[in-house]
Amino acid sequence: MIAIMCSGGDSSGMNPAIKKFVDYAYDKNLTPYFIYDGLEGLIDGNIKEAWHKDVAGIMHLGGTIIRTSRSKRFYKFSNRQTAYNNLKKYNIDKLIVLGGDGSFKAMDIFCQEFDISFIGVPSTIDNDINGTDYCLGVDTSLNVIKNALDDIRDTSSSFKRAFVVETMGRNCGYLALISALTSGAEICIIPEIEYDLNSLQKRLSQEIKNGRSYILAVVSEATNDTDKIKQWIKTDLKFEVREMKLGHIQRGGSPSVYDRLMAFEFISYSIDRLMQDKVNEIIVYKDSKFKFLKVDEVVNDIYKIDNKLLELVKKLTK
Ligand code: F6P
Repeated sequence: MIAIMCSGGDSSGMNPAIKKFVDYAYDKNLTPYFIYDGLEGLIDGNIKEAWHKDVAGIMHLGGTIIRTSRSKRFYKFSNRQTAYNNLKKYNIDKLIVLGGDGSFKAMDIFCQEFDISFIGVPSTIDNDINGTDYCLGVDTSLNVIKNALDDIRDTSSSFKRAFVVETMGRNCGYLALISALTSGAEICIIPEIEYDLNSLQKRLSQEIKNGRSYILAVVSEATNDTDKIKQWIKTDLKFEVREMKLGHIQRGGSPSVYDRLMAFEFISYSIDRLMQDKVNEIIVYKDSKFKFLKVDEVVNDIYKIDNKLLELVKKLTK
């Protein structure tokens, strides 16, 4: 039997993945199961057979209908033993986990201890998983941020104001970088690039003199510098300024077409792989191709943003 669960932060695209999981499992004569509430639910035995009717009408929904969690209890062996016993009750020996690094590390340990096959599907708005160019949900999140920045520009330009907009991303500046570039922001502050307030001041003061009537600054939460940039705009640039933390709306929203399609691909490849072999791997999308990597290859290194993208955004940091 095969089961799917989510773990860690939710991301849009999880529901299309869950729908594909059920439909494709039945196509392949497998009985699909849901594990509700992530690793917490696995420990608590919150497991249920999944039917087509469970996934009818969920394609357009953000979040995850089987919910997710961050579990500290899973660190304890006795809880993992309980989790395994729960899976055995339903003869589940194949698992698909939609999650991030932390979840994959936990599953890696679990699969080495017990007779379980597992494929991890990189799913996080942060797009910070090593070995893959894309994580499920990042496209929807970027579109939520794009819409927010477009709206903020409307009010910002009407009032001769600067806006400092903080994006999520945990330790990674990817969301801020892509959003700043594609929204035409004036400033982008990310942890991957050292910024230079003196040259930013020179450039922007000149632009203000030449008639610039608003400023958009996109700041990654990973820098912790949102307030600093706001104060600097106020005192050094002498420009009226407002701050906005986009927060958890970045994790919501109807999954984009791209996230839906990628969810289908991730899931069908993963089920095919689980049917072939006993595996303990992560499916990644690298250089426009799907492939499988060992968990170690993914979790032992930190994700690095493509140099070409970093080069493109440099001019917004100085
Ligand atoms: O990993 C996804 C993410 O949304 C990060 O971007 C953010 O730092 C964190 O999760 C927020 O976590 P929580 O939902 O627990 O507040």
